[in-house]
Amino acid sequence: MKRLVVLTGAGISAESGISTFRDQNGLWEGHDVMEVASPEGWHKNRELVLDFYNQRRKACLNAKPNSAHLLLADLEKDFDVTIITQNVDDLHEKAGSSKVIHLHGELFKAQSTADPSLVYPVNGWEIKLGDKCEKGSQLRPFIVWFGEQVPMMESAINTAEQADIFAVVGTSLLVYPAAGLIMYCSAEVPKFLIDIKLPVLPAMQNLTKIEAKASTGVVKMAEILRDRHF
Ligand code: APR
Repeated sequence: MKRLVVLTGAGISAESGISTFRDQNGLWEGHDVMEVASPEGWHKNRELVLDFYNQRRKACLNAKPNSAHLLLADLEKDFDVTIITQNVDDLHEKAGSSKVIHLHGELFKAQSTADPSLVYPVNGWEIKLGDKCEKGSQLRPFIVWFGEQVPMMESAINTAEQADIFAVVGTSLLVYPAAGLIMYCSAEVPKFLIDIKLPVLPAMQNLTKIEAKASTGVVKMAEILRDRHF
């Protein structure tokens, strides 16, 4: 089976009712990123940070995968699919994708502030001030904040390097290192860029651009893959 690697961003979850970050009315519009998504913000006001992610979790709790998530899961019948997502929601898993690398963490997990290897599921939508790990330290959202290392990056790079086909769906490609992953694919690898408003990429070979919302764009990509007998 050919290896299909798909890098996804907030745009793939937009049709499930989850806000993106940088579109109009995006999540960052009403927030200072460094206040809610950085270690400095956490040290300054833990309650504000917990509340920001509690609200995100609440919004995702009952969200359902849309047809783009579902089709990517369905493509596992014909391809060895790995999703590398910048999203912290669980919609790829809910859709049934079996290999999902979360580059920026996961909303429905909490992490110890004393020992980063201690990670727990979050039941419901809240992490409260006073919720502690087994070593007695406050739990924080299991999110990779600005200024932090991206622990899953090495695994994502290895996956991108081995791709036979590489697709990018619904991301502004403004945040590194995730935005640079496509550069790890060799020139001959067919690449797809799917976005309602295509982000700018350096010129590269074998790139098919599909300017569409994720649900229709992923269908189009699947048709091209089928027609070209990939
Ligand atoms: N279908 C496809 N693409 C869409 C749709 C849609 N229905 N709606 C919006 N988009 C596109 C936008 O055109 C934009 O290119 O999704 C992209 C969303 O970009 P961002 O809001 O910047 O989200 P993302 O690229 O995932 O952000 C990367 O930045 O703040 C951090 O950690 C956060 O993981 C996030 C990272």
